[in-house]
Amino acid sequence: MGMTINQKAKRKIIPVASGKGGAGKSLITANMGLRLGMAGVRTVIVDMDLGGSNLHTYLGYRNNHKGIGNYLSDSRTRFNDVMVQTHVPDLRFVPGDVLVTGLASPTPAIRKKLVAAIESIDADIVLIDLGSGTTPLVVEMFLLSNSGLIIATPEAPSVLNAYSLLKNVLFRQLQEEFTSSKRVTAYLKDVQKDKTPGSTPTLRDIVDGIQKIDRKNGTRAKKAVSQLKPHLILNMLTQPDDFRIAESLRELVERNLGITLESLGAVFDDPACSQAVRALRPLSEFAPESAAAIQIERMAQKIAQSERFPDMPLDLEAYDSSYGLTRIEIAMDVESFSQPGDSTVSGEARDEEFLEVISQQKREIDQLKGTIRTLTAGSDSPF
Ligand SMILES: Nc1ncnc2c1ncn2[C@@H]1O[C@H](COP(=O)(O)OP(=O)(O)OP(=O)(O)O)[C@@H](O)[C@H]1O
Ligand SMILES: [Mg+2]
Repeated sequence: MGMTINQKAKRKIIPVASGKGGAGKSLITANMGLRLGMAGVRTVIVDMDLGGSNLHTYLGYRNNHKGIGNYLSDSRTRFNDVMVQTHVPDLRFVPGDVLVTGLASPTPAIRKKLVAAIESIDADIVLIDLGSGTTPLVVEMFLLSNSGLIIATPEAPSVLNAYSLLKNVLFRQLQEEFTSSKRVTAYLKDVQKDKTPGSTPTLRDIVDGIQKIDRKNGTRAKKAVSQLKPHLILNMLTQPDDFRIAESLRELVERNLGITLESLGAVFDDPACSQAVRALRPLSEFAPESAAAIQIERMAQKIAQSERFPDMPLDLEAYDSSYGLTRIEIAMDVESFSQPGDSTVSGEARDEEFLEVISQQKREIDQLKGTIRTLTAGSDSPF
């Protein structure tokens, strides 16, 4: 498992994950891939949601192609054989296991084979559409690079699951880093075992714990963790203020996990998404002028234009952070499109509705804080 791919190779692997299902991973990955391909970036999308493969739908294809299921079940099938050329010359995709199923929880050996297959892909950008939840496959695929994307919707459970996923990913990263150190490995095992309520440490505490074992190890642990530069995409905003929950998540991640979760952008809740699916066509071709299509295109542009993604050349004179930038983009998009917050009801009713949504949002944020306390104090998470 390497964290060096993005630094050494030109090709970038970008895994796309979400804690909770239905956050929009497949829709966003598919349309981002299309946009990258249209921009002349040689892109491959891999449908790694084994057991729930549906990426092809968002690209406008039927499930009549061989995919990862065939690759894994037939030793004569090579990975290149299951790569499908799309109508966009610079975009290919690898279907999941729609024809050969039953691989929802692959063994370590199979996971290793999948990692090797992905690392062998010849492309500028490899997008990996992952399944939801914190499975070993998701965690390993996410750690294939330092530039993963986390997708969440503006609801407390979605954001909390995103947090939990990141926490597990970072913990795994530490385990990987210290496989050769018996003492640190034993310490990490203890942390994982200790489920005493109220005593579960944050990742920062764990790094301190490692530091106590050996000062040099502490520095190494910090370095291993800070290599990860994930980006957040908040999807399905129904009003601009929904973005506040992203800022809460950022604070939480920074405080408890000690890393910065940057914002790649926000996508409005847009009826064009389901209309495109019904028309069996990709959103970015069915409704290229829709809010969601344009917002996804903007994120693809950010990736295409940053020479060293996940590092992005932000104009810090103009925005205080990537979140400040996303806020400006949201405000711009509200001007250009009638959503989010579009309503056919009268102005007065609309204000009331708006206040209701705001108070609901406040409740959600309060709930978020409460749940986080519970979450960090136990459950099935490793710390
Ligand atoms: N911005 C959006 N506005 C409206 N609908 C959306 C938006 N993004 C996604 N959807 C819809 O939400 C549903 C879930 O999206 P999608 O399948 O991409 O999620 P997912 O994270 O891949 O789910 P799973 O975890 O099941 O793989 C789909 O019906 C999709 O069309
Ligand atoms: Mg999906």
